[in-house]
Amino acid sequence: MNDATRHLIDIDRLSDDEIETLINRACALASGADPGHLDASVANLFFEPSTRTRVSFELAAARVGMQPINIEMAQASTTKGESLEDTVATLAAMGIGCLVLRHAEIGLHARLAAALPAGVHLVNAGEGSRAHPSQALLDAATLRARGIEPAGLKLAVVGDVRHSRVAASGLRLWPRLGVEELRLAGPADLLPAGQPSPGVIHCSTLEEAVRDADVVMMLRIQHERMDRSGWPDPAAYHADWGLKSEHLDVAAANCVVMHPGPINRGVEIAAEVADGDRSLILEQVRMGVFMRMAIFEWLLKR
Ligand code: NCD
Repeated sequence: MNDATRHLIDIDRLSDDEIETLINRACALASGADPGHLDASVANLFFEPSTRTRVSFELAAARVGMQPINIEMAQASTTKGESLEDTVATLAAMGIGCLVLRHAEIGLHARLAAALPAGVHLVNAGEGSRAHPSQALLDAATLRARGIEPAGLKLAVVGDVRHSRVAASGLRLWPRLGVEELRLAGPADLLPAGQPSPGVIHCSTLEEAVRDADVVMMLRIQHERMDRSGWPDPAAYHADWGLKSEHLDVAAANCVVMHPGPINRGVEIAAEVADGDRSLILEQVRMGVFMRMAIFEWLLKR
């Protein structure tokens, strides 16, 4: 491994300066700054379903002049028994400069990155329930682009926090950006196990979580990471934990609503809130492309 080759594995590996650079660059690109031109190919390797993240990386690559290649993992050589290590080495030998990987296995991204030849970069586009750093970064950029600084905010994360890699990366990022109060809320089974870490508050009701909150981030129930199929009942869940207009009445006056998507209308969020004027959901999607452009630029910067 070559230490000079950058990878995006998780938030913890980024310095404060790197975090600021990425967020600011995404905001600049969103306001029309010229993207650089990067001469490299990028392979998208998604072993889990994805629409927005995969398309976002693909569009971002194209916009910075890179050649994106989508590999249909259901038809890839890993289905013929090849190890992912060998698939990745094969792609690197063909001159692929960047690998964007979504995979359920925790620790795989770091392991593969450490074994890559110098000059080949790896981006974590989702790692089980552990990390999704580009999503956390684009969420922060979405706020900044709106003129909302995370420092001093009360931010509520509501829903299936336990299985959410978006929440996991957010829990790493938000304190670094000075969020004053990070509230986690959801059914007890869906909150992180154990005691909350310093600066994090576990709330037992949705009302408690959203009261005076500046940002409310709703999460989908990650059924694919649970053994209990069909649980919880969607209507009962919506009654207790679905964000509805009335909740915004007790939130801070300018409270904004976020959701990484895919959204389940009528489950974790009422349609009128998802489509309402407090919602930044499509702004997050838009900012996702600019953040991934910023990530490619940062990775390949000499
Ligand atoms: C999330 C993911 O895949 O972790 N989606 C995303 O990348 N925007 C959240 C989810 O699947 O619920």
